Amino acid sequence: AEKKMWGGRFSEGTAASMEAYSESVSYDWQLYAEDIRGSQAHARVLAKQGFLTEEEAQRICDGLDTVKAEIEGGDFRWKTEMEDVHMNVESRLTEIIGPLGGKLHTARSRNDQVALDFRLHVAARLAAWQEYLATLIDVFVARAEEHKETLLPGCTHFQPAQPVSLAHHLLAYCQMFKRDFERVTDCLKRVRVMPLGAAALAGTTHPVNPQAVAEDLGIEAIFANSMDAVSDRDFALESVFAGSLIMTHLSRMCEEIIIWANPNFGYVKLPDQYATGSSIMPQKKNPDACELMRGKTGRVVGSLMSLLVVLKGLPMTYNRDLQEDKEPFFDADKTVSASVSIMADMMRQMVFVPEKMLGTVERGFLNATELADYLAAKGVPFREAHHITGAAVAYAEDKSVGLEDLTLDELRQFSDNIEEDVFSVLDYRACVERRTSSGGTGPESVKQQISDLKAWLASV
Ligand code: ARG
Repeated sequence: AEKKMWGGRFSEGTAASMEAYSESVSYDWQLYAEDIRGSQAHARVLAKQGFLTEEEAQRICDGLDTVKAEIEGGDFRWKTEMEDVHMNVESRLTEIIGPLGGKLHTARSRNDQVALDFRLHVAARLAAWQEYLATLIDVFVARAEEHKETLLPGCTHFQPAQPVSLAHHLLAYCQMFKRDFERVTDCLKRVRVMPLGAAALAGTTHPVNPQAVAEDLGIEAIFANSMDAVSDRDFALESVFAGSLIMTHLSRMCEEIIIWANPNFGYVKLPDQYATGSSIMPQKKNPDACELMRGKTGRVVGSLMSLLVVLKGLPMTYNRDLQEDKEPFFDADKTVSASVSIMADMMRQMVFVPEKMLGTVERGFLNATELADYLAAKGVPFREAHHITGAAVAYAEDKSVGLEDLTLDELRQFSDNIEEDVFSVLDYRACVERRTSSGGTGPESVKQQISDLKAWLASV
């Protein structure tokens, strides 16, 4: 077996089972670009600090460029016996440039190195999530703009309650996704912190310069405590939390699309690109993309649980348990990235069926609240107005008609406060238009929401 980098004090090799158990290179190879970037910054600063000559630093950086080219060209042989990406890269560097490669690890431990690589990686992925989210919001806003006039039965308890515009409904999701975006921004402040210079745990006797490495890498914040710097992964955990919430929001939308696509509702026709057929029932068009997204939400929440449990009860400082931090993040990232992008594309192509939505609005007494409010405005105590309206609903239901289909005389059986002007109030479109309170479903509020979201999108 090849001699381990840390093998100085060992006389026996590692068990094959242990090697397989402890390796992480099969997945952390994905950190190679960050590992190389971090090492190049470290080498340049080592030269500034007088540990390396400028020429040595240059040879290290060039060597690392060669390693990177080999990896990207598919010529790199990853070795499990080298455990992880860090040792694979460094040992290849040493093969290429000779013993000078061994100087790169001066004033550095894998503990601060892995923390840096992972932080750089998480930061890059969070920035990507933000791009996907911005596109998603942009699509939802565009679809909302098309459906400012479309009436949808707004529900509570999943029972038809009051009419809203489809735009208002879609814009509610925009608010969730906007908060998701902002949560990621906030998270990034704590991800983008430089841990290099913490060394193994206690700092180092070498005059290191984390500030200079951070500047080289375009990071503003530096660790305040070396023990904390190498031992916490809260930055990854809260990122996966932000991802879990993104998925949770997406899965709510998915659930609604699944229901809307059911022929009993028929509010949407799924785009062919995001539906599948049945191998046995020729008539079927199944909402698989939405179902998968709803299901994959469980995976991401599972990753969040994994990270919480890995971190729980860990004594100071670095513990090998921390190697279990990467797969949950990688898996969550893959799912979040694909899901946000697919939802945007699917929503762009979604076919809405306003007639079907209106059908439910008209069948469900969604203007009952209007009648109660109308009576209240005429001085009837609201509790009584509620009661009167309930009786009118029961009467209309018996006749299988809507409140708006009753004659004035019929309505006046329930209260002589009801006059001819009641009909303009019972009109479904008016239900939406008269809701002028800010943030409500009224057209002014919807317009405002759209323009605010557009301004926000232009600013991020
Ligand atoms: N592969 C390790 C990890 O992901 C790198 C750090 C190893 N440090 C150590 N002292 N064994 O956590």
